[in-house]
Amino acid sequence: VLEGKCPFGGNTVGGAQTSPPTLSDWYPDRLRVEQLHRDGRAADPLADLDHPAAFATIDLEELKADITRLLTTSVSWWPSDYGNYAPQMVRMAWHSAGTYRIADGRGGAGQAMQRFAPISSWWDNGNTDKSRRLLWPVKQKYGAALSWADLIVLTGNCALEVMGFPTIGFGGGRRDAWEADDATYWGPEHLDMTDPGSYDDMVDRSGRWTAEPGEPGYELQQPLAASHQALIYVNPEGPGANGDPAASAVDIRITFGRMAMNDVETVALIAGGHAFGKSHGAVPADQIGAPPENAPMEAMGLGWHNPVGSGNAEHTMTNGIEGSWTPSPTQWDNSYLENLFRYEWEQTRSPAGALQWTPSDPSAPKTPDAHRAGVEHSLMMMTSDIALKVDPVYREVCQRFLADFDLFTDEFAKAWHKLTHRDMGPKSRYLGPDVAAEDFIWQDPLPAREHPVVSAADVDRLKRAVHDTGLSVSDLAFTAFSSAVTHRESDKRGGANGARIALEPQKDWPVNRRTVPVVAALRDVAAAFNASAVGDAARVSLADVIVLAGCVAVEDAAAAAGSTVSVPFTPGRVDATQDQTDVAQFQWLAPVVDGFRNYEQPDLASVTDVAPERFFLDEASLLGLTAPEWVVLTGGLRVLGCNHDGSAHGVFTERVGALTTDFFTTLTTMDLQWAAADDAAGRPTRFTLDDRDTGVQVHTATRNDLVFGSNAQLRAVAEVYAARDGQERFVRDFVAVWDKLMMADRYDVDPSTAPT
Ligand code: HEM
Repeated sequence: VLEGKCPFGGNTVGGAQTSPPTLSDWYPDRLRVEQLHRDGRAADPLADLDHPAAFATIDLEELKADITRLLTTSVSWWPSDYGNYAPQMVRMAWHSAGTYRIADGRGGAGQAMQRFAPISSWWDNGNTDKSRRLLWPVKQKYGAALSWADLIVLTGNCALEVMGFPTIGFGGGRRDAWEADDATYWGPEHLDMTDPGSYDDMVDRSGRWTAEPGEPGYELQQPLAASHQALIYVNPEGPGANGDPAASAVDIRITFGRMAMNDVETVALIAGGHAFGKSHGAVPADQIGAPPENAPMEAMGLGWHNPVGSGNAEHTMTNGIEGSWTPSPTQWDNSYLENLFRYEWEQTRSPAGALQWTPSDPSAPKTPDAHRAGVEHSLMMMTSDIALKVDPVYREVCQRFLADFDLFTDEFAKAWHKLTHRDMGPKSRYLGPDVAAEDFIWQDPLPAREHPVVSAADVDRLKRAVHDTGLSVSDLAFTAFSSAVTHRESDKRGGANGARIALEPQKDWPVNRRTVPVVAALRDVAAAFNASAVGDAARVSLADVIVLAGCVAVEDAAAAAGSTVSVPFTPGRVDATQDQTDVAQFQWLAPVVDGFRNYEQPDLASVTDVAPERFFLDEASLLGLTAPEWVVLTGGLRVLGCNHDGSAHGVFTERVGALTTDFFTTLTTMDLQWAAADDAAGRPTRFTLDDRDTGVQVHTATRNDLVFGSNAQLRAVAEVYAARDGQERFVRDFVAVWDKLMMADRYDVDPSTAPT
């Protein structure tokens, strides 16, 4: 009798697909290679959309008018403070962009990740769900043509404008993510997100800071850019809610620095942002419901249910601090800094119990209640605001802004633009009529191309010239690869275009040492070609010659393995100048581990417990590789002899420079025996491969070699190439991923028209 029985066949059902425990619970340290296939096209209902064309159909003036109208039209389910949603929209846009961290380029406004866990449900993003939901009518009107990511940033701009602040431009073109990011490292803390009462735990900074505030060696783990879990930057109440403004300044400098902001930009952003709106702390945190990811179904994606009073308006509880910084919270003016400096501030507590500051002078100006006419309040500052006054460098910047409101306005406008566009990559990716005319160094600018690109006949001539240098396949391939491997999908920085491998800081990176003489020789090739060109004839860039040299190397290597292949080459790259290259900002692209070139930062074991292969997976992810691409690219580079130091680790072949499947056949054979050769970091870093019968050592390897044989998923791919029918597939797949990498930063080339 089936009655009363679950369709799964039993009376008790303990779970369904994805119910914990899952692989990650059982094997928390496993290498989650499947993350390389996250955010796939299958999840994207708009995968077939021509996004730039769709964006071009938007009448941007109409869209801005729609947003602006919405900002001043209050709705009953979430009444606006001061009759204007603009301040909360500025915060939403700032928090959308503010997750960006320069170490790996992840975070940022580019994909509207604020809609998905964990970011959607971070305590610091409290009530940004309401801001986005308020925008739904606009999103609905413009549909697929307008991404959430663009809408969030544009709304931030419109909000600033409606409050009298002049923004300097908007570039569209962000493409939404369609699923949660389950892989980005946001810090070591484990918080119980299902328990609203555990918000107090969020002052716990354990694990991510190397010392206590004030102690020597005080630093934040890389690549993090927030002082603790579930925050965008720092705790407004100071480190660990200690109320210490000087210590808060230290955290602000570290975290904003990780966002690539200097001291002037940091002050401009904080003082600029807090010229607007208010903080909300009318109700104790333990009254507040679960964040969106854990909220009950009938909450329909909204979180932080507030059961007190109306649950909104004057009862709103967001962060816990209560009050406004200025008497004019919806007007751009200098009253934030004026009041910060004119008055002494003393510590007090909000109704929710949070630590905050109020003027000690009772005659200080008041600020109006956001909802009740005739009611007013004392001004408020957060510990992180007082930090701007007590830190000597921030203080000096504040004083300049105090004395010169136009300067402050200008610096805030530029910093806001950077904040909201930082992760979009080169300016050529910006769409729409409002793109700022000015170029900025953080866009990693490239010069305009001044001459026609080389013809097919020119390419043949250049290939011969590359051959004539006498440089080895290994050196040519290594150099081309090195020029391209800095590319990261996260913030679209790096890559071969610009030939920045020939500039500081890249030319000085230890991992690039091998490229220096090669780049010099290829520079001569380019110079000789260009010297022979007259008038309007084509010229070639160093960047193109470096990439072409890689094509030459791969074609020769394939030929040496008995395979004939033509490696695609799309000319048109340009050479950046040193002036166009912010050395400090490019230094962040230096690898800690580059598994492709078998490189590890020399002191790796002393700076991290993280296994090298985990960094390697991260690198593959930043390059936008799939697992098969990762495997085939590495196997090819090994037999091409592309280790940074010329070492033999992982070079499982007697025929270095021939594009054979030897790496994979060696990796999968049982004729060899693998053994750890050291135990340097509590885990072996070097291995030997010995003949199983004779015991004679045949090869040596690193973790970044053997991971392709030990990890089940990677091994499965390696077997494809190790098989008897693997050679042609290997060459074909290697060339495809090689070309993908060389073209990864060619935003100037329409993918539908590029030669393949
Ligand atoms: C509000 C903290 C930087 C713009 C708030 C709130 C907190 C906070 C706790 C109150 C949230 C609430 O309860 O409603 C911080 C900290 C910062 C920082 C610790 C860095 C040290 C910025 C920046 C901007 C900004 C860089 C923009 C450029 C705003 C705005 C509001 C706000 C506009 C008011 C929101 C509203 O009226 O609903 N901030 N913030 N903040 N913040 Fe910040």
